[in-house]
Amino acid sequence: MNEKALPGSRRKVVIIGAGAVGSTHCYALAQSGLADEIAIIDKNEDLAKGQVMDLVHGQPFFPTVSIKAGSLSDFANANVIVITAGSPMKPGETRLQLLQRNTAIIKNIMTDIISQNSPGVVLIVSNPVDILTYVALKHSGWDRGRIIGSGTVLDSARFRYLISDHCGVDVHNVHAYMLGEHGDSEFAAWSMTNIAGMPMEEYCPVCKHCTDWKSERRQIEQEVRDSAYHIIGYKGATYFAVGLALVRIVGAILRGQRSVLTVSTLLNGEFGLSDVCLSVPCIVSNKGVRKIIESNLNEQELASLSASADILKTALKDLKL
Ligand SMILES: NC(=O)c1ccc[n+]([C@@H]2O[C@H](COP(=O)([O-])OP(=O)(O)OC[C@H]3O[C@@H](n4cnc5c(N)ncnc54)[C@H](O)[C@@H]3O)[C@@H](O)[C@H]2O)c1
Repeated sequence: MNEKALPGSRRKVVIIGAGAVGSTHCYALAQSGLADEIAIIDKNEDLAKGQVMDLVHGQPFFPTVSIKAGSLSDFANANVIVITAGSPMKPGETRLQLLQRNTAIIKNIMTDIISQNSPGVVLIVSNPVDILTYVALKHSGWDRGRIIGSGTVLDSARFRYLISDHCGVDVHNVHAYMLGEHGDSEFAAWSMTNIAGMPMEEYCPVCKHCTDWKSERRQIEQEVRDSAYHIIGYKGATYFAVGLALVRIVGAILRGQRSVLTVSTLLNGEFGLSDVCLSVPCIVSNKGVRKIIESNLNEQELASLSASADILKTALKDLKL
């Protein structure tokens, strides 16, 4: 069941950052048919123009969609604003200095969005995504559901793929969630993982596919955490799967789908945690996060979630907001 989604209006998405992630997302979004209008903005205006030219030449092969290089005024009637703008690490720079620069970028972009009275939902993708989601929220003063981070939606997709590959089952029959920080402290919520409705505790003994499923689970979980490092090692950046994960989130917003997605959201007492953004199962719809699902995590998973929150709060402590 979908919520009433934008009657009579055009579905408009603004993508900020026309680099690898922003342009790949635009390419995938155009093919999905979910948006009527996409505007791409980059501080490098030539890059935005070039990406748009390259994309619109594919229009005979897409569902109908208008794609253009955008400007500030595009925020005024955007339904979703996807922020992929970021600055790469400079030689000799510390992580904190990089974080401070990306914080300034996000704050400036949020100021521009607010100046246009945008009605849209903001989706933060730039890393570190949990911290920058928190920065955007604090800077805007908006309702917490309206600014969300892409969080571990990508990581959960990697997790589902690895389980499906390992177990020899269609990925669409695997329901699995990575929670916590989008980063090294994220963890697999095995208690919520199931194949065709069977919790793993039931499925693994019946399947008999592997000899030592407990240790193989640990390997799968670690492989999820290491995925980005491997891809960046091989080809310098990750963009295909994240571009698709963003289509999934944007689609849930544009169509008011009430989809359960592990986006990064501000916790306000849920799971015993407050004043930190991280990924937990959320119902995502036309106004962003509509509800946080306080799933019944086991003790170890709750401790892992709390450890992620501590790491993120420590990073926030040193940041000038
Ligand atoms: N959350 C996730 O799952 C996930 C996955 C992959 C990458 N990322 C992050 O996405 C971000 C983008 O990655 P990428 O590979 O596309 O990088 P990229 O360098 O290819 O693109 C970034 C773009 O942002 C633009 N930019 C910088 N400051 C800007 C500003 N103030 N306004 C407008 N545009 C601005 C740059 O000109 C550049 O074109 C990075 O922070 C990366 O770490 C997140």
